[in-house]
Amino acid sequence: AEDTHITDYSFSYEGPFGAFDQFQLQRGLQVYTENCSACHGLKYVSFRNLSDEGGPHLPEDQMRAYAEQFFMSDFDSPENFDLIDPETGDQKTLTPADHFPANNTQGAPDLSLMAKARAGFHGPYGTGLSQLFNGMGGGEYIASILSGYTGETKEEAGVVLYQNEAFPGGYISMAPPLFEDGVVYADGTPATVEQQAQDVAAFLMWTAEPKMMARKQAGLTGVIFLTVLSVLLYMTNKRLWAPHK
Ligand code: HEM
Repeated sequence: AEDTHITDYSFSYEGPFGAFDQFQLQRGLQVYTENCSACHGLKYVSFRNLSDEGGPHLPEDQMRAYAEQFFMSDFDSPENFDLIDPETGDQKTLTPADHFPANNTQGAPDLSLMAKARAGFHGPYGTGLSQLFNGMGGGEYIASILSGYTGETKEEAGVVLYQNEAFPGGYISMAPPLFEDGVVYADGTPATVEQQAQDVAAFLMWTAEPKMMARKQAGLTGVIFLTVLSVLLYMTNKRLWAPHK
């Protein structure tokens, strides 16, 4: 991990007051749909959650239409059996209650929890100090992988490996998935590789931690509550002991 390079992007969801950018999550969903979903599943995410507040917050009808048009690439995965019509063997019409299909084409891992399974920052010397100041960096790790290709390749045991500055070991079996203008964003955002990488990384942070906003809100409320309580206790203490001084 020492020789890899992770860029410390500043995502909107970082910090105690950070929040997901709804429109960035929608762009990230588009990148996932048009690109990553060909190989990677998102099996722990249900379509209906795309409408959740604090998330992509798709209007109900758009979310419904999205589920209905979703094309499943992996019919062999046992995890998708509930999405297949037993009569015809075809994909059922997916509904908001369904989960995204599983998919591990070419051995691609499921991306639902990837942003929490990987860390962008480490050390120094196993102290975790970097993570204390910079955060875990799961989003940074994903965005850095996607924009970390050098263009060099090598072949090992018949498998093509792509040199990548962010991937531990330096070579990854995933071909560079992103291209300049590989998607056309509905909101007109220029689709550079960096932009797509950060958008899909933010989206995957949301899939991995959909309740992040609620957690931060609760944490902040807790801190305010405890601060007020400390002041009151301090004053109570003063008053209780005042006659005995
Ligand atoms: C691995 C993300 C598109 C095939 C990964 C990993 C991430 C990722 C985060 C895990 C790296 C790790 O283990 O630390 C994405 C995203 C994509 C995308 C966000 C869309 C922008 C694709 C596509 C394919 C693919 C289209 C297939 C053509 C793979 C494979 C691996 C992998 C085979 C395992 C690589 C290895 O362990 O060497 N991807 N991916 N990915 N992905 Fe993708």
